[in-house]
Amino acid sequence: MTASVEARDRITAPVLDMDPYSVENITSPYAFQTALRDIGPVAFIPKHGVYAVGRHAECTEVFKDHERFSAKAGIGIQDIRKPGDFRVPNRMLENDPPSSTAIRGVVTKYLSPIVIRRWKEHFEKLATPFAEEIVARGSIDGVEDLAEAWILKVFPQAVGIDMPREQILAIGEMRFNQSGPPNELYRKAMERAKPHIEWFEHSVTREAAKPGSIAESLFEAEERGEFPEPGLASNMVRSLIGGGSDSTIAALGHTLHYLARDPAQWDLLREDANGRAKLAFEEAIRMEPAFMVTYRTTTGPVELSGVSLDGDTKIGIFMGAGNRDPRKFEDPDRYDLMRNSTGVHVGFGQGAHTCIGQMIARIEAEAILKALSKLVSRIELDGEARYRPINQMRMLDILPLRFTSA
Ligand code: HEM
Repeated sequence: MTASVEARDRITAPVLDMDPYSVENITSPYAFQTALRDIGPVAFIPKHGVYAVGRHAECTEVFKDHERFSAKAGIGIQDIRKPGDFRVPNRMLENDPPSSTAIRGVVTKYLSPIVIRRWKEHFEKLATPFAEEIVARGSIDGVEDLAEAWILKVFPQAVGIDMPREQILAIGEMRFNQSGPPNELYRKAMERAKPHIEWFEHSVTREAAKPGSIAESLFEAEERGEFPEPGLASNMVRSLIGGGSDSTIAALGHTLHYLARDPAQWDLLREDANGRAKLAFEEAIRMEPAFMVTYRTTTGPVELSGVSLDGDTKIGIFMGAGNRDPRKFEDPDRYDLMRNSTGVHVGFGQGAHTCIGQMIARIEAEAILKALSKLVSRIELDGEARYRPINQMRMLDILPLRFTSA
């Protein structure tokens, strides 16, 4: 067979002429998600020159095969190995096994079940008075007053780094716009974050880490020579702050949004909060993953589900599309506390980089959901919810809520 016949016989990815980064698609991604799943197992998006997957099977396959799909060029749309990108790479996530797993092994030690249990007990103690104060107000903004206020109360204690709201939100918006294309959202977020960059750089130093915290344990591990390379403790603290604050705020906001729109689900939670708070949170992450997309890069010309892909090209894993794939989930657009898709949905990733902080996110969210479920008989929308447009994130901006006390 000649080379030209081979080239002609290659099945190439169908073209999807949509922009997942338009403000319209960021704030309401469902039409894009459906189109991506329907067009085939993998598509090419010419607007950004990237491949994209939105079916559950291919999302999982790309996550799990670093031989064909590497994270080394970064998990954003831009290639961080090329000049011009000034983001500090995440040396665990933007890396492949075995190098990434060696780093991950050290971090995992300091997020052990004993550490998690300690913080779980502490968060549960804090949750009741926090919830009482919120419920007493009657009407609140579920984003600023609840999701942000709660996560920014508990998460900084566990990590051991102060995270003032204005600073951490500006830095988060910068990071999660920066992982998208250099559009207007990106430019505005960079401007807003500029005055806070010095604060952020200080917050990932040894001096900023509080005694008894996860950050302190990582710096101590570095001093004992546990990490395979120097400078990793600070890089890991950076990735815990970056990976764990906005994502959990977003996920808790989505959980409250679904529960407020469906009183039957709120009742299910109240009937068995100890068993179902976890499912309420997990189901919101399935339906609205905080991270809209993450990228890998083809390591050479590769095949995926019978489609030939060019080498050295980014491929976006659209987690929201995968998590609503009817090939995998029955009635996928239904928020249902009786469903348990933990470990199956892709909202925490899959494979070598699956979210290392997911237990922390869960104990934070479960503590507050359990406390609220004891105090509130009904939770309702008290106005229109709005989304905050961020390139990589699915996050609410405003969520007006009204509580009826139990
Ligand atoms: C609901 C909240 C969260 C969501 C939805 C979430 C989602 C994710 C996803 C999708 C990935 C995989 C990214 C990829 O493979 O490209 C990931 C990895 C990661 N997450 Fe989370 N995350 C959450 C909370 C947290 C928290 C609380 C922390 C810190 C305590 C954290 C730290 C990390 C880190 C460090 C990684 C990289 C792991 C590695 O490279 O091995 N995340 N997360």
